[in-house]
Amino acid sequence: MIFDTHAHYDDEAFDEDRDAVLGSLADGGVGLVVNICASKESLRKTEELTKKYPFMYGAVGIHPDYVGELDSGIMDELSQLADEEKIVAIGEIGLDYYWDIAPREVQRKWFEQQLSLALEKDLPVVIHSREATNETLEIIRRTYLESEGKLRGVIHCFSGSAEIAKEYTDMGFYIGVGGVVTFKNGKKLKEVVEALPLDKLVIETDCPYLAPVPYRGKRNDSTLLKLVIEEIAALRGMTAEEVERVTEENARRLYGLG
Ligand code: NI
Repeated sequence: MIFDTHAHYDDEAFDEDRDAVLGSLADGGVGLVVNICASKESLRKTEELTKKYPFMYGAVGIHPDYVGELDSGIMDELSQLADEEKIVAIGEIGLDYYWDIAPREVQRKWFEQQLSLALEKDLPVVIHSREATNETLEIIRRTYLESEGKLRGVIHCFSGSAEIAKEYTDMGFYIGVGGVVTFKNGKKLKEVVEALPLDKLVIETDCPYLAPVPYRGKRNDSTLLKLVIEEIAALRGMTAEEVERVTEENARRLYGLG
């Protein structure tokens, strides 16, 4: 089965036909999806999706673009949600120095607090890092060492070099690969995919964003991951079936869904 490790089905892009799209995923070979929170509004929507759909799990956290709305009340809400059975990770959290919506010190503060929450709850983290490669790595490495190797998770929509990917996989982190690997300008990510340890590779849509070629720019959904799987198979000299099986196993290990 296809395991989509990172989707945003609570997004307004699905407001018109959410149930129809989610109801058709199984026919497209999709067996498991983790819906990832970004804003505080997405927390309850994600919880509802996990209750409505057996194949849907959730990650709760506040994305760096929205940390301006974070306070101790929302941290308490995250903490409560994290105890629910179908909430399997804290995310997406991290640093976004491309949009720079919240001041960088504010982004760092809430990133570190949400990493601490993940350690307290013994959950993996889903990391968002944009134009902040070195500082994200530095914070993760420090937290990893301070926690004596207990910090674990996935670097979502990985955009760094093969060398940076190795820094993460050496700490046991997974690398999330999606539609970008099919783009003409996705050369750096193709090199990362070729060099990665196979047991650290997971696939993700980040839908509604980042649809693979030839749907680039259109609304993405989990069934289009078959195009990402085909590209990875070509890069690794594997069959699509093998890539689908291995990425499912990896994603189950990442999120503790044995
Ligand atoms: Ni995302």
